Amino acid sequence: MPSEDQSERVDWKDGGTPVSALFDDPYFSLADGLAETRHVFLAGNGLPARFRDGFQIAETGFGTGLNLLATLIAWTEAGLTGTLRYTSFEAYPMPPADMDRALAAFPEAADRAAPLLDAWRAGQRRFALGPIAVEIIEGDARATLPAWPGRADAWFLDGFSPAKNPELWGADLLAEVARHTAPGGTFATYTAAGFVRRALQSSGFQVERAKGFGRKRHMSRGRLCTTP
Ligand SMILES: C[S@@+](CC[C@H](N)C(=O)[O-])C[C@H]1O[C@@H](n2cnc3c(N)ncnc32)[C@H](O)[C@@H]1O
Repeated sequence: MPSEDQSERVDWKDGGTPVSALFDDPYFSLADGLAETRHVFLAGNGLPARFRDGFQIAETGFGTGLNLLATLIAWTEAGLTGTLRYTSFEAYPMPPADMDRALAAFPEAADRAAPLLDAWRAGQRRFALGPIAVEIIEGDARATLPAWPGRADAWFLDGFSPAKNPELWGADLLAEVARHTAPGGTFATYTAAGFVRRALQSSGFQVERAKGFGRKRHMSRGRLCTTP
């Protein structure tokens, strides 16, 4: 758990994978981050099939922006029109040069990253990335999410591992996730940790285990239960 005066620092594993020095955990799968995003966060939330104009995604942990770029690719490939809204909660924004280096490992994403990197370098936290209205809410999600006026149709729960980043997996925060979910909205996450699943369940989600990405046996996904 980092102390407040620590600034973000990124280490590089095997030359290409960014690892947080604060949390001692990689930002994405050492195997293939883009494929993991597609399996866990997009397919786990029934995307792109559920996309529609005005669809709202929310994410805990913006990190490198890889999930955002994977979402942009999925939206574009699905031939959708209109606007997608993407709100991400991030306490320790990554330095732009590190973001650039991290995304360079995925040419498909890097090809579309220029407007994101330009905005990031300029310190912008609300900007358009093609059809996506992006909003990055800086600060500890435990403080910022309760004040967010939005409700997500799909949540990407992407903190570092629950053991190393318990702040993003606590019962109070996950209750706020449920409170900020639209009727019929969903979540997906790479973790199948029991305490996370139980907290999501008692917050009002119907939770199920699904096949994990790569060597991970399980992930979790779920839908907000509607009150009769
Ligand atoms: C696994 S990374 C996210 C990866 C990201 N979704 C991507 O596409 O690259 C987890 C992120 O959560 C952020 N984080 C950790 N604790 C946080 C907190 N309490 N509030 C908000 N963000 C937090 C970290 O700084 C890090 O960027």
